Amino acid sequence: MGSEMKRVMAGGSGRLLVLVAATAVACACLGLAKGQEQGPVSELCLGCICEAVSNCNRSLGCNGDVCGLFRITWAYWADAGKPVIAQDNPDADGAYVRCVTEPFCAASTVQGYMRRFGKDCNGDGTVNCFDYAAIHRLGGYGCTGALEYNYQNKFMNCQRQVQQLAGGK
Ligand SMILES: *[C@@H]1O[C@H](CO)[C@@H](O)[C@H](O)[C@H]1NC(C)=O
Repeated sequence: MGSEMKRVMAGGSGRLLVLVAATAVACACLGLAKGQEQGPVSELCLGCICEAVSNCNRSLGCNGDVCGLFRITWAYWADAGKPVIAQDNPDADGAYVRCVTEPFCAASTVQGYMRRFGKDCNGDGTVNCFDYAAIHRLGGYGCTGALEYNYQNKFMNCQRQVQQLAGGK
């Protein structure tokens, strides 16, 4: 994929540069996650989820009850199995914030959550990125509900661009 990205960049399309930036973040997440445990969510899918939820802004801290580039709550992190950054302890004060504001640990949290709650939310016969995006936003039990417009729109645009890239090989 790296050389595909470079060819796209050389093409100089502004629209695609956004995608390249998003997938670069996604690939960084995945690269990190690779050394650790794998999960059901592809790196491109992680990229589109964080794109939809925060524009994949890695410097985001906490606002209200959500933190980091995936905007993760304490309950989501706990349901995901309380992953921690290296040397940390899940029961230590601040372990949640330290994890979900760190892109790799945040991605592991999404993987842990989807390992537990992944299912076919829209009834199309497969568990795919659309389902993970709905579960991320609506939770494991509410994922058949309606997604808010902005989230869905950003997610669908990202997915479309990823598919064009994949199809244009
Ligand atoms: C990312 O989030 C930080 C902290 O909220 C903000 O200052 C910055 O402008 C954001 N970056 C982008 C590219 O939106």
